[in-house]
Amino acid sequence: MTTTSPRDKNASRDVEEAAIIAAKPDVISNTKKVFIKTYGCQMNVYDSERMADVLAPIGYAPVETPDQADLVILNTCHIREKAAEKVYSELGRIRQHKEANKPEMKVAVAGCVAQAEGAEIMRRAPVVDMVLGPQTYHKLPEMIAKVHRKSGEVLETEFDTIEKFDSLPKTRNVKGFSAFLTVQEGCDKFCTFCVVPYTRGAEVSRPVDQIVMEARDLAAQGVREITLIGQNVDAYHAEGPDGSEWGLGELIRHVALIGGIDRIRFTTSHPRDMDDALIKVIGEEPKLMPYLHLPIQSGSNKILRAMNRDHTYDHYKQLIAKIRAARPEIALSGDFIVGFPGETEADFEQTMKCVEEIGYASSFSFKYSIRPGTPGASMHRQVPEDVKQDRLVRLQALLYKQQEEHNKSLIGKTLSVLVEGKGRKGGQLFGRSPYLTGTHFDGPEELIGQIVDVRIEEAGRNSLVGVLA
Ligand code: 5AD
Ligand code: SF4
Repeated sequence: MTTTSPRDKNASRDVEEAAIIAAKPDVISNTKKVFIKTYGCQMNVYDSERMADVLAPIGYAPVETPDQADLVILNTCHIREKAAEKVYSELGRIRQHKEANKPEMKVAVAGCVAQAEGAEIMRRAPVVDMVLGPQTYHKLPEMIAKVHRKSGEVLETEFDTIEKFDSLPKTRNVKGFSAFLTVQEGCDKFCTFCVVPYTRGAEVSRPVDQIVMEARDLAAQGVREITLIGQNVDAYHAEGPDGSEWGLGELIRHVALIGGIDRIRFTTSHPRDMDDALIKVIGEEPKLMPYLHLPIQSGSNKILRAMNRDHTYDHYKQLIAKIRAARPEIALSGDFIVGFPGETEADFEQTMKCVEEIGYASSFSFKYSIRPGTPGASMHRQVPEDVKQDRLVRLQALLYKQQEEHNKSLIGKTLSVLVEGKGRKGGQLFGRSPYLTGTHFDGPEELIGQIVDVRIEEAGRNSLVGVLA
C-alpha cells in the first residue's frame, strides 16, 4: 500500500492558488464540467457527491456523461476481482475519447483502486493525470491546479480522514430526498478476505457536531431520509455534547431530533460490534426504519474462524433473536461469500442452514474473490471456480425465494413510502418502502418528496405495486 505524497517545490503555491480560486467562486463561473463515475459501495456514492461539492467553488458543474467533460473522475472499487481491470478498460475508452474529441480533458482515478495501485495506474494508463485515495479528495483543487501547471504527476494516497472531513465544504449540494451521511470510515476488523482495512485505513469516527451540522444542512435542503454510513458503522464512537462517549445508538437518537428528518437507516453493521445499547435504539426509535443489513458471510464456524470474523453462528443467531424481540417487524439483509478457502460441501450446507433458519428479506451474495495482499489470498485449499459457481447458484435460489416470499407477505398491508420520483409508466410514482423495496403506484407528481401510505397489491422479487391508501 503506498502512502507517499510526492511534492515538488511548487506545492505550497498550488495550495495558495487553490485557496484563492476556492475563495472566489464568482471569479470563475460554472463553465467547466466534471463527470464522476462511481463504482462500488455507498461510501463511494457519498464520496462522489462530496467531490462534486469540493469542485463546485472552483467552477466545475457536474454532468451526466463524459462527452462534454473537462474533467473525468473514476471513483473506483477494489472489493472484488476484476474491479481494477474494469477501471483500466474504462480508461482505454476515455483515452480514445480524449484523443479524438477533447485533448485538453483531464482524468483522475479516485477511490480504493487508486489507493491500492497508486503510481502503477499512471504507469499503466498515461492518460491519467491524477490519482487520489479515498482520504484525499478534499485536495482536488490543489491537484487540479498542479496538473494545469504541468508540474509532474499528482498522486495523493495519504490517510488523514480527520483532515479530509474538516476541509470539506460545510454545505452539500444534494438532489433527492434520501441521502447518505458518512459517520465512520475505515475498518480495524481485518476479515481475511477483505481489502477495506488496507484501502480505507483504520477506523475513524467523525465528531458528533460535524455530523449533526451536516444532517441539519441535508434537512434544510429537503432531505427526509438519512442513511448513516460507515464500513463498520456499529463501531462509531465519539464524544457527545454532554462530554460522555457516544455510540451509534446515541447518534441515531440525536439525528432523529432534527426537524424534517423522518427516516433514519444505518449500514454496514458487524455482528461483533452490535451491542445492547444499539439494539435498544432499534426497538425504541420510531424514525429508524425496520430494516437491518447484518452480514454473516458464512454459516460455518470453521469458515467464520478462518475469515477472522470473531464470532460464531450461534452468536449471530442469538443477536438476531434479540433484535427481533426488540423490533418484531424488522426485515433482515445479509452478505454471503461462498467458496472461501477450505470451504467444504458440509461448510456450505451450514450457510444454507443459516439462511433457512434466519430468513432474509434481501441479500448480497458473492463468490470468494482472491484479493492480493489479504491473508485469504495465500490460504491453502482454494475452492475451484466451478464449485464456487455451483454453490452461488444454490444459495441465490434460496435467498431469492425468501426475498420474494417477504415481498409477497406485504400484499394487503399499508406501507409508508418515501416518494423519490416518477415511475416508469405515465402517471406512476416510485418510492421506497420502510424495507427499502422499490414501490410503484399511481399518484400526482406533487407527492414527490413526501411520505405517503400505499396499500400493496402486487409483489415481485424486486419490487412492489400498490395504490395510495
Ligand atoms: N470476495 C468476495 N466477496 C467479498 N466481499 C468482501 N471482500 C470479498 C472478497 N474478497 C463481500 C463481503 C462484504 C461485501 C461488502 O463484499 O460479503 O460484506
Ligand atoms: Fe471488510 Fe470485515 Fe471490515 Fe467489513 S468488517 S469492511 S468485511 S474487514
